[in-house]
Amino acid sequence: MSNFEIPFNRPSTVGKEFEYIAHAIRKGQLSGDGHYTHKCNAQIEQLTGARKALLTHSCTAALEMAAILCDLSPGDEVIMPSFTFVSTANAVVLRGAVPVFVDIDPDTLNIDPTHVKAAVTNKTKAIFAVHYAGYPADMDALADIARTHDLILVEDAAQALGSTYKGRLAGSLADLGAFSFHETKNIISGEGGALVINNPDLIERAEIIREKGTNRSRFLRGQVDKYTWVDIGSSFLPGELTAAFLYAQLEQASTITARRQGFFDHYVAAFQELAAQGRLTLPQVPEHTTGNGHMFYLMLRDVDDRDAFIAHMKAAGINAVFHYVPLHSAPGGLKFSRSAGDMQVTNTVSDTLVRLPMFATLEDGIETVIETALGFLSKPL
Ligand SMILES: Cc1ncc(COP(=O)(O)O)c(C=O)c1O
Repeated sequence: MSNFEIPFNRPSTVGKEFEYIAHAIRKGQLSGDGHYTHKCNAQIEQLTGARKALLTHSCTAALEMAAILCDLSPGDEVIMPSFTFVSTANAVVLRGAVPVFVDIDPDTLNIDPTHVKAAVTNKTKAIFAVHYAGYPADMDALADIARTHDLILVEDAAQALGSTYKGRLAGSLADLGAFSFHETKNIISGEGGALVINNPDLIERAEIIREKGTNRSRFLRGQVDKYTWVDIGSSFLPGELTAAFLYAQLEQASTITARRQGFFDHYVAAFQELAAQGRLTLPQVPEHTTGNGHMFYLMLRDVDDRDAFIAHMKAAGINAVFHYVPLHSAPGGLKFSRSAGDMQVTNTVSDTLVRLPMFATLEDGIETVIETALGFLSKPL
């Protein structure tokens, strides 16, 4: 329970969650891969344009599956941004491989393809691109590099359900993609996620890895008469109660996205003048991408300015937060990874970025958030 009057995130139900959970219980299957899991998979395929979607219990799980599908061996390298959540890197480290961090673009805060190109070695096996704040990374440039060097391209689309890049949906832009339905995301099931697969060569193995290394999915489709251990894997699938909750949310995906995008646009309008005066920096949206209202952030002058802003908001009962502590300088990063380049943009962004409250029922609080923020930011320096 948050002590803040306006929390950073407030999960809410949006439709038929309770009805579907009761229905799942009545149907008598609570384990995974039942009625609601299949409905979620089909809906996620529609919302991402991906060839195949497999529900997982988290985006972390989907990233771990992706790392197994990349066939990483100890010493192999995977290029990724340092400005991301720990799971992007951890998935690779769990395979004994090495995350190689490169810097981000100062406008989009997404991985910079120029740095990716320079970081490729004969050990590189894959690129994990993160769609920061829901805005897709420059996937055409990354796909070019992947094609040239025979690398697997993965979208960490944890934050990007419904976003587009050059008219194509996030999740349809790489060999593999990972989505999150954690309660801080747009579409939620508490914990939850999905692996999406566009490379047809990886589909069957993905099903096996998700089902503890067995060919149970083929058995359930009647393609084999018993199921057995065939590969490495784990239990990556959620139960039906989670899927039932999630399906009710997925049904409302466009409404939820539109609401959040409305709050995003409202924030932008409120801070536009201060941005024009150079007091702060707003999210920059490349013309060829559309977002999904996942996150609204500001970048302030320096770490002291940002920390004082957060304290000002906190004193007014509003939870504004920063992230990420760059992975390259975190204790785990120092132990398990290496950096290619000086990571200057990542370090600066990490010091100056602050996220404002964003959730589907923000209408009662957004004016207070804006007024309180302007109370700090409009003061002469
Ligand atoms: C970029 C990114 N990757 C991965 C994750 C992990 O998602 P989950 O909590 O569903 O495992 C998150 C969650 O915040 C994220 O933002």
